[in-house]
Amino acid sequence: MAEDLLRIEHLSVDYHVGAGTFRALTDVSLSMPAGRVVGIVGETGCGKSTLGHAIPRLLPQPPAQVRSGKVFFQGTDLLKLPKWRMPSVRGTGIGMIFQEPINSLNPAFRVGDQIAEAVQIRRLREHGRQPARKADVQGFDYSKREMPKAADVVTGPFVPPNLTETLKQRPPPISKDLQKEVLDFLHLVRINDPERIISLFPHELSGGMRQRIMIAMALSGKPSLLIADEPTSALDVTIQAQVLTLMKELMDEVSTSILFISHDLGVIAEMADDVGVMYAGHMVEFGPVAEIFESPRHPYTKSLIRSIPNKYKEDGVLPSLSGSVPNLSRLPNGCTFHPRCPMVRDVCRKDPEPPLTDLPPGPAGLVHRSACYFPEEVASLP
Ligand SMILES: Nc1ncnc2c1ncn2[C@@H]1O[C@H](COP(=O)(O)OP(=O)(O)OP(=O)(O)O)[C@@H](O)[C@H]1O
Ligand SMILES: [Mg+2]
Repeated sequence: MAEDLLRIEHLSVDYHVGAGTFRALTDVSLSMPAGRVVGIVGETGCGKSTLGHAIPRLLPQPPAQVRSGKVFFQGTDLLKLPKWRMPSVRGTGIGMIFQEPINSLNPAFRVGDQIAEAVQIRRLREHGRQPARKADVQGFDYSKREMPKAADVVTGPFVPPNLTETLKQRPPPISKDLQKEVLDFLHLVRINDPERIISLFPHELSGGMRQRIMIAMALSGKPSLLIADEPTSALDVTIQAQVLTLMKELMDEVSTSILFISHDLGVIAEMADDVGVMYAGHMVEFGPVAEIFESPRHPYTKSLIRSIPNKYKEDGVLPSLSGSVPNLSRLPNGCTFHPRCPMVRDVCRKDPEPPLTDLPPGPAGLVHRSACYFPEEVASLP
């Protein structure tokens, strides 16, 4: 059987805040074959971003602490690598697109220079070289903020930014051939007039344009895995639709597997092949998008599907789930979802948490898993 591009096994992550411990991820497992787009969906605070950031080791530690688990990327357990070796996972790469591109682009430098840097780092990697420091790339270090750029994920060991030194330097001129590649990436993300755009600063661009630049930067590293964390949530609805369309088109043009995080199941349905549904730090269901929409096997998934506008709009009333998400520092015993579950039984309150378990293969024979003791009964829920 072919090796999964990404395989997460029993990952648990806590945040230690004051005297409290918040269980942001509990025993999350996920496999992602190369070439698939996997969506991660769930309400705010359910741990989607924590999962997305844990994979390339970008969690702020402290307060975050990986309590247990493994994250295999192309067969290597990333959590076992010393942090400085993370980037030396050679010939491979993980790119990231964040919700707020303004936080990930450096405000002090022209966007063309920032994409050029990402391209140069990739070129070094393709030649089997790893920049010792990012500063070796152009003799210049763009890193200034805590929030990493896409390039940070694929590039050399983390170098603590020295702002004074950074500001003293100026980026050297970009070679013709490098500039051509930068323009090509801007064309790829459908930016008109890229020759003008490369000389602009991030604040001179609209939100949608900035997100396109972020996508260009992430793709310029030619990553095998792209993690997109709510890439359109901060944008106006019309711009959101344009960026989603762009991403969908790019999926056919570049061979990158994507982990697509969104709180919006409608968006996931558009974008992803498979979907993992998260609830209070747990992965409660995983499977092919079409199958999960057609026949969800966890009561939480069913309630999410029912709450998509349009589906039940005839009477204008959206069904809502009673109760609220549990406090992650005091998770209930038994199944985490049981206090809100319409089909709760005694076993759900008393027994250990139901693990994510393979269901009998559906019509397409693809993996479908549920963390409910009664997956077959979900179909009978109203
Ligand atoms: N830096 C942090 N310090 C302390 N707690 C945190 C930190 N980051 C996240 N958390 C907590 O961990 C839990 C999971 O947060 P996370 O950001 O992963 O959720 P999310 O599903 O991405 O939510 P959203 O849809 O709002 O982006 C939340 O309860 C959150 O408050
Ligand atoms: Mg998030």
